[in-house]
Amino acid sequence: MTTPTPLNQDELKALVGQAALQYIVPGDIVGVGTGSTVNKFIDALATVKDRVRGAVSSSVASTERLRAIGIPVLDANEVEQLSVYVDGADEIDGLGYMVKGGGAALTREKIVASLAQRFICIADETKLVATLGRFPLPVEVIPMAAAQIARRFATLGGQATLRLKDGQPLVTDNGQHILDVTGLSITDPLALESEINQWPGVVTVGIFAHQKAQVCLLGTAQGVKTQTY
Ligand code: A5P
Repeated sequence: MTTPTPLNQDELKALVGQAALQYIVPGDIVGVGTGSTVNKFIDALATVKDRVRGAVSSSVASTERLRAIGIPVLDANEVEQLSVYVDGADEIDGLGYMVKGGGAALTREKIVASLAQRFICIADETKLVATLGRFPLPVEVIPMAAAQIARRFATLGGQATLRLKDGQPLVTDNGQHILDVTGLSITDPLALESEINQWPGVVTVGIFAHQKAQVCLLGTAQGVKTQTY
């Protein structure tokens, strides 16, 4: 008898992307996140697109992918409430708190997530952590405030680095910059998210604690594990 080959990370992402379809309410508008795991979800959506009335998207990249498969994309202002928002994470802990923004889409992700009754997080098991903070914390900032925000992080023991693309500061879909902060151990995500939100020039901090997941579909060697919070 041969032992089955374990699924690789890409296959685990496809597995959880497919599994997220069960949360879609037929005829509904679905909130769609950003990233390589969400791309698998969008691929899966293509197979059931007649069941979906439309989507609210969290990035230009996801909008293009959704339109390419024929799903209408609505402006967030046209929608009062979504039943579900499906997105990946850079880290998720045992309570459903997350760090997000590795793909620079955190601001729109938080806006769309806040319209939804349930955040369905799709992730492979490398994203599960005991304490948030191993992944550099993304923070979208107004460029003129970047240096003072970096100094504030230093007082918390964090080192903030301006994210670059092709040697230049990365510019988000909202025309702003991203700081990536290492050295933080985020033991109280709710409190730290609230505190950083108060700093002038912060557009969005990538801690999703007030906007945490209600469900996580975690891709593991044993298959999809469903965690609810
Ligand atoms: C995008 O800004 C992020 O919040 C993504 O949701 C996160 O980086 C997960 O992306 P992957 O699915 O590509 O790992």
